Amino acid sequence: MRECRMSAGSLFSYFRFLKTTKQDVAIAISMGIIHGLASGFGIPVILKYSSSILFSGEEIDGVTVTILTLLPMLVMFIRGVSGFLSSYYFAACGQHIVEELRMMIFQKIQRLHLGFFNDCPPAELISRSINASTIIQTNLVDISHDVITQPMALLGAIGYLIYLCIQESNLVILFLFLSALPVFIFPIRKIGLRLRQKSGQMQRQTAEIIDRLNHNLAAIREVRAFGLEEQETKNYRKACHAFSDAFLKVIKYQLIVSPIIEVISAVGVGFSMFYAYRQGLKLEIFMALATALYFGYDAIKRLGDLSNKIQSSMAAVDRIEVILSEPEKIHDPENPVPVDRLRGDIEFRDVSFAYLKNKDVLKKLNLSIQRGKTYALVGGSGAGKSTFVAMILRFFDPDRGTITVDKIDIRAMLKHDLRRNIAYVPQDPTLINDTVYKNIIWGKPDASREEVIEAAEKAYAHDFISQMAEGYDTLIGENGNSLSGGQRQRIALARVFLRDCPILIFDEATSALDSESQQAIYRAIKNLKKDKTIIMISHRFSMMSIVDEVLVFSRGEIVERGTHRNLLEGDSLYRRLYEKQQVIES
Ligand SMILES: Nc1ncnc2c1ncn2[C@@H]1O[C@H](COP(=O)(O)OP(=O)(O)OP(=O)(O)O)[C@@H](O)[C@H]1O
Ligand SMILES: [Mg+2]
Repeated sequence: MRECRMSAGSLFSYFRFLKTTKQDVAIAISMGIIHGLASGFGIPVILKYSSSILFSGEEIDGVTVTILTLLPMLVMFIRGVSGFLSSYYFAACGQHIVEELRMMIFQKIQRLHLGFFNDCPPAELISRSINASTIIQTNLVDISHDVITQPMALLGAIGYLIYLCIQESNLVILFLFLSALPVFIFPIRKIGLRLRQKSGQMQRQTAEIIDRLNHNLAAIREVRAFGLEEQETKNYRKACHAFSDAFLKVIKYQLIVSPIIEVISAVGVGFSMFYAYRQGLKLEIFMALATALYFGYDAIKRLGDLSNKIQSSMAAVDRIEVILSEPEKIHDPENPVPVDRLRGDIEFRDVSFAYLKNKDVLKKLNLSIQRGKTYALVGGSGAGKSTFVAMILRFFDPDRGTITVDKIDIRAMLKHDLRRNIAYVPQDPTLINDTVYKNIIWGKPDASREEVIEAAEKAYAHDFISQMAEGYDTLIGENGNSLSGGQRQRIALARVFLRDCPILIFDEATSALDSESQQAIYRAIKNLKKDKTIIMISHRFSMMSIVDEVLVFSRGEIVERGTHRNLLEGDSLYRRLYEKQQVIES
């Protein structure tokens, strides 16, 4: 599997998605601040206040005792409720971000140039749009919550320590506490960087597992036929094992931060206690001090975890940014020429195109294709026929030259306007995992049932569909698994016949059909032909009865063109291709 390029991205830029949920953000933040302050400041203050009165040794009335014992409970209650509300609303915000993020990735995939998918296989895209965004979601929720509450708790605790130290005219404890802070930074940073690297590796391994599974399922017949089950299982185990390795490393780095911070904290608390003992501090001061120290160090520990979460999210962000920052390449023009129904006159002027630099697949093509005519594109494998039709659909833009339809440069009209005028059956059509009916109507979602049946009849598919268990409502499985190759092609053809477009392109669309169905479909195409432009790529010559002109491709050039008859005369490439085919078919 090819690796996708990684690029840096900013995790926090995704907060822009929260513009529409400002109310949730406001509740989450304000509750987070209350929770943080209640922890770091409220609890030590109340404890000190209550204990200084309760344990003063003086007589206190029952009401005061009740109030003083209820006060810490009240602060804990406020802390608990605000903690819950803050977590809940941050979770809502996180969910909102991930939903927007997934939509953004999906929409970007719809717009990306097809070359991108050569480098980034489906498993990578699935892993990036599902797993990576889930990692970001989970981490963003925790990060957002802690990023407010923990600094607040830490600030509250430091504030209170400063107050205590000033009150007791003793700054040593504050100094002890603060001097431990820089010691925390080093392991947090070091481990964070390792974690980002390992987390990226773990996410790549997830993609590898999806990829292996995906390949295995797509080639399930080949795997059985070639007896590859064991080898496939071995490869799958390898991928799972590599994932486990990467996962355990991530877990190791995630878990190691807390104990390191706890040990450093314990040293800090130990020194503070020893010093407090030596100084003979009063119990209530000592309790308040210990609570403030606890919440202070706890906040640091959580901030350490937070740093980890930011690092593993950054690895996920890197993976998502690869998709989001990819240039779209095939752009719509700023001021598009308005286009309704095209006539269908196509012209190529000096068109050259290469998938890979300096390896022209189409070389300076010049030709015009007229409405009302049917063209056959023939030529050896890899000659450039599919690429030629991909250019008409603007799947790629020419490197040089122009393509016009009705004398309008196709780059001057909206892609959508161009494509809704073209009905196209690709060389390997895809069927969706739904009913026959849904598969046909996919081509024109607002069609009536009658139109669907009419299209199926034209595609010579109505009879076999009617014989299926539930007719048009029969489920056909993933990519039409329960159908024969010829049946799949006929459904793909019906989908196109339904669209009634001025330009029809068939790329080997009848290759899996028996000659009877082929002839029936050619008749259907012939009936359509008078006001349409029809381009058919085929290795079979049986369709020549309906073809007006043949374009012979060789290494990206049109080397011969003319009628079937004319081309058969003399020593033409066409004639050689034709004779070869006759030998194969006889
Ligand atoms: N997505 C791609 N990326 C890189 N090269 C490609 C891509 N698609 C096709 N090619 C290359 O471009 C050349 C022309 O391919 P194309 O699919 O247009 O041939 P074709 O005439 O349709 O062949 P066939 O009859 O086998 O379908 C081939 O050499 C092929 O390897
Ligand atoms: Mg092809």
